[in-house]
Amino acid sequence: MRKPKVTVVGAGFVGATAAQRLVEKNLATVVLHDIVPGMPQGKALDLMQSACIEGYESTVTGTNDPADYAGSDIVIVTSGLARQPGMSRDDLLLKNAEIVGSVAENIRKYAPDAIVIVVSNPLDVMTALVAAKTGFPKERVMGMAGVLDSARFRAFIAMELGVAHQDVDAMVLGGHGDDMVPLSRYTTVSGIGIEALLPPEKIAALAERTRNGGAEIVKLLQKGSAYYAPSAAAVAMAQAILRDEKRLLPASAWCTGQYGIENHYVGVPIVLGKEGVEKIVTLDLTAEELKALHASVGRIAESVAKLGL
Ligand code: 2OP
Repeated sequence: MRKPKVTVVGAGFVGATAAQRLVEKNLATVVLHDIVPGMPQGKALDLMQSACIEGYESTVTGTNDPADYAGSDIVIVTSGLARQPGMSRDDLLLKNAEIVGSVAENIRKYAPDAIVIVVSNPLDVMTALVAAKTGFPKERVMGMAGVLDSARFRAFIAMELGVAHQDVDAMVLGGHGDDMVPLSRYTTVSGIGIEALLPPEKIAALAERTRNGGAEIVKLLQKGSAYYAPSAAAVAMAQAILRDEKRLLPASAWCTGQYGIENHYVGVPIVLGKEGVEKIVTLDLTAEELKALHASVGRIAESVAKLGL
């Protein structure tokens, strides 16, 4: 049986760690692409030398040639600059648009049937850019952010309550930026609403820490940004597609009227399976939650307009 093929574009920390997770889970044959000569080849070789120790059969090849995207079922785009301390994700807009725009053209040319998961920042805008440049059906282009932002909220809640991380479920909507919208009303611990377990000020503080979850790590690292959780989130999405899992996850998806959002990419709950974004799930939001979501979309729309999309 043919093994699915996943191309990871960008062999930096997020990309290389995503490639590692993909092969360690035996999910796919992986191509790791970067423009830096030798770098993806070296990391791929290192990963192949780990295969007999870790016990995986999947192979990974490093390349500088985008023609090697051919036949990909999924392309994960991690290219672009990462934030430095004090930078917002929006500060990366113009430079990353140049890089991600050319990656999108290569995907259109060499992997016209792929489903694309965008990880590059500013996330929702880069996802819109990839959709525009590839011209792919919108259900085949999505952004990874909600899984990561929800995982951060879940982690902070689990640490606060001293409970198992796997028992915490959370839903964070909106853009992957400072105005993301953690929905405490849809956040539970083994089915128990978080509001029954923590006082409102504590929930608000954990939601705020979630909004700054990426920046907190950038500040600690001083050089570069998070990559373990971002790569884990991207690979969870790839797995949902490859195995047609129909996972209900938050991700940046193209809205056509859902939540009153017309023609924008933004983080909403989706059902993710072999066709890509198979459905957008519409939750009942309060006026305040909707207002926060629309404010987040407004910020994305400004950046999208700056790129003339
Ligand atoms: C983060 O939030 C890289 O945007 C990513 O850490």
